[in-house]
Amino acid sequence: MAVRILTLVGSLRSGSHNRRLAEAAVHIAPEHVEVSLFEGLDTVPFYNEDIDAEGSVPAAAARLREATAEADALLLVSPEYNGTIPAVLKNAIDWLSRPYGAGALNGKPVAVVGTAFGQYGGVWAQDEARKAVRIAGAEVAEDLTLSIPSSVVRFAELHPVDDPEVTEKLSGVLEGLASRAAATV
Ligand SMILES: Cc1cc2nc3c(=O)[nH]c(=O)nc-3n(C[C@H](O)[C@H](O)[C@H](O)COP(=O)(O)O)c2cc1C
Repeated sequence: MAVRILTLVGSLRSGSHNRRLAEAAVHIAPEHVEVSLFEGLDTVPFYNEDIDAEGSVPAAAARLREATAEADALLLVSPEYNGTIPAVLKNAIDWLSRPYGAGALNGKPVAVVGTAFGQYGGVWAQDEARKAVRIAGAEVAEDLTLSIPSSVVRFAELHPVDDPEVTEKLSGVLEGLASRAAATV
């Protein structure tokens, strides 16, 4: 059976380079790996403990939890906003971190990659994302990294799937994440 990797993208804009990077992951997934994109992170309300109660969990948040629970591993694909994680991704992590000790991220293999305009390719945001999911109980693949600088310039005309350096490194991340997921089932 294929290893299922769910990607969460930390940018909502239609022309997002990170979204395209996630699309590249779908496209180049190794034979035994199935990569999908979670759609609708923008419809997940801000995390609020008052509504995180039986019968009150918003449908979009419940859908995010279900999709994550069904996946064998998660790939977070994110830019950096003001030196840290974009709010939309942090919000998703917060929903996935609860119920405490039993959230959908608990024990889930997670890798974090991304592209940003700055010269370090968004490493601060990616490191913060790793920290947050680690605290939420995920098995973070610390060594599977990919931070692509100059997003706006590098991908102005070029889709990441047509960038051999990117696809080679991204394939390595997918292979590594898939083998970690296979080892945890
Ligand atoms: C609100 C905001 C804050 C940003 N802060 C950073 C930053 O701290 N570091 C950085 O490298 N790029 C920063 N950028 C530039 C983004 O990295 C760049 O626009 C990136 O391509 C956005 O990702 P996307 O193409 O997936 O939407 C920022 C962009 C926005 C809109």
